[in-house]
Amino acid sequence: MADIAISHLVKTYPGGKERATDDVSLNISDGDFTVLLGPSGCGKTTLLRMLAGLEFPDSGSISVGGRDVTYLPPNKRNMSMVFQSYAVFPHRNVRYNIGFGLLMAKKAPEEIARKVAWAADLLQLTPYLDRLPAQLSGGQRQRVAVARAIVMDADVLLMDEPLSNLDALLRLTFRSELKKIVQDLGTTTVYVTHDQSEALSLGDQVAVMRKGSIAQLGNPLDVYDAPADRFVGGFIGSPPMNFINAAVSGDGDTLVLGEQRLRAPSILRSFANNDVVLGVRAENVSVDTTRSSGDIPATVLVVEPMGSTVLLTVDVDGQSIKVQAPPTFRTEPHETIWLTFSPHTMRFYDGATSMALEAK
Ligand SMILES: Nc1ncnc2c1ncn2[C@@H]1O[C@H](COP(=O)(O)OP(=O)(O)OP(=O)(O)O)[C@@H](O)[C@H]1O
Ligand SMILES: [Mg+2]
Repeated sequence: MADIAISHLVKTYPGGKERATDDVSLNISDGDFTVLLGPSGCGKTTLLRMLAGLEFPDSGSISVGGRDVTYLPPNKRNMSMVFQSYAVFPHRNVRYNIGFGLLMAKKAPEEIARKVAWAADLLQLTPYLDRLPAQLSGGQRQRVAVARAIVMDADVLLMDEPLSNLDALLRLTFRSELKKIVQDLGTTTVYVTHDQSEALSLGDQVAVMRKGSIAQLGNPLDVYDAPADRFVGGFIGSPPMNFINAAVSGDGDTLVLGEQRLRAPSILRSFANNDVVLGVRAENVSVDTTRSSGDIPATVLVVEPMGSTVLLTVDVDGQSIKVQAPPTFRTEPHETIWLTFSPHTMRFYDGATSMALEAK
């Protein structure tokens, strides 16, 4: 079993002013695909390298299958890693590059040949086994890096932005292939990315990181649907979640948006007379060219046809938000349109702390 328990990991690099990871705790079930997601510098690679044994923490612990591995060297952990820059040997052919780890582990030549053939087949590299990396496309080179990791039969697969060197289209194709391969292998996987769409599409669970800490941990749908704070809502989703300053009326029944009034969901009862921030996803606002009761007027600023939808940037009482309209929706800048917010998709945040409000 390869359950991973990461507990209170703290790491400061020599000379570093801030903690690269700051009290990170995370449990990963055997066979799960966990994504570490966050902006550049938030500590994703550092956390992955501590899992691999390439860095040691200042304090905290890592155990795998109940065994404390915190200070074990990499070769005693049975994990294999795909690095952020695919480090293939340029003067060795694909066959050698894929089998390299097995060669180092002094496996028998027949076993190496069998595993290399298996991984090459899985990653569609069989025709290229005798080529040098320079004779491959970026996507094929990336496949070599993944093949080299999966031949090791590791308990845990660690991947650091394995798709980052690919162009947008290849990323999409390889993403689905990678998901299928890892699903079929059933290996516990920890995958680092700063791309929110990759995190949503691949992860069984997503840990959204910020400045060395985990801001939210959950399954992708929950994290998308109910961000724990404004940072997570702004980082996940394309476009990011809209945030609108609002106030709750004295009786707690009404949400006041500038001149506009909406019925306040019950969670706001205990926030009467308080300023709040309304968080709403672009696809959860419906738009109309004619007014119905309860609608909020908005002035169209920008119209961006996206194919399957039209993305509108609109002004609501001096605040700019993005909403999604059906592809057939016709409007022009400066026109007034009417918005409906569906109550069950509205999220609320504390203006000062940015944390999600919870019913008191
Ligand atoms: N070897 C190092 N020595 C000193 N500081 C480091 C070292 N490696 C990383 N850091 C610092 O630790 C913090 C976390 O870095 P890390 O590489 O883990 O971020 P990341 O989330 O992987 O970012 P990216 O998305 O850019 O790869 C950053 O502030 C970085 O500058
Ligand atoms: Mg990194």
